[in-house]
Amino acid sequence: MPKKKTSPKSPPKERALALRVNGRVLEVEVPPHRTLLEALRDAGFVDVKRGCEKGDCGACAVLIDGVAVDACLTLAWTVEGRDIVTAAGLGTHENMHPLQKTFVEKGAIQCGYCTPGLIVAAQSLISTTPDPSEEDIRVGLSGNLCRCTGYAKVFEAVREAAAQMRNQRGRR
Ligand code: FES
Ligand code: FES
Repeated sequence: MPKKKTSPKSPPKERALALRVNGRVLEVEVPPHRTLLEALRDAGFVDVKRGCEKGDCGACAVLIDGVAVDACLTLAWTVEGRDIVTAAGLGTHENMHPLQKTFVEKGAIQCGYCTPGLIVAAQSLISTTPDPSEEDIRVGLSGNLCRCTGYAKVFEAVREAAAQMRNQRGRR
C-alpha cells in the first residue's frame, strides 16, 4: 500500500503575552512551547536561574500567585494574568525582604546559584506556615538543590526570617 503523504507542519505561531512580573506588565512574543524560564531570562530576569531544566533542582523557582513553581516546567502561555514574582521582586537593595537579609547575614549564600530559588521556596513556605518547624523547612526546601554547601545556614536563615516576619506582623 502506498504511503500516505504527510504535509510538513508549519512551525507554531508566536503569540503576544502580557505577563505580570514583579508588579509590572512584561510584554513578550513567545511560541507555545516556550517555558516561563526561557521567557523570563530572555527578558532579562537573570535572577531566575537555569539549572537542570527538568524540575530537579529548583534553581528556576518563581512565585505564581504566591506559590513556588519551577519556571522550567511551566509554559509561558499558561501564566498570563497570574501574579509572577521572582526572588529579586521580593525586595530592593534599600528595602530588602527579611529572607534576602537573613540569607546574607547567616552566610547561607556560597556561589549563590541556588539562592534565588531557595528564597522563593522559603517565601512560599512561610506564607502558609508562618512558624515553620525544622521538619517543615526541610520539606519546604526539599525541591531545591545547593550543589556547593550544606543546608544548615540556609535553614537557620529561613527560621530567622520567619521569626522577623511574625514580629513585623505582630507590630502592625
Ligand atoms: S532549572 Fe528548573 S528545576 Fe532545575
Ligand atoms: S550556593 Fe552554590 S549551589 Fe547553592
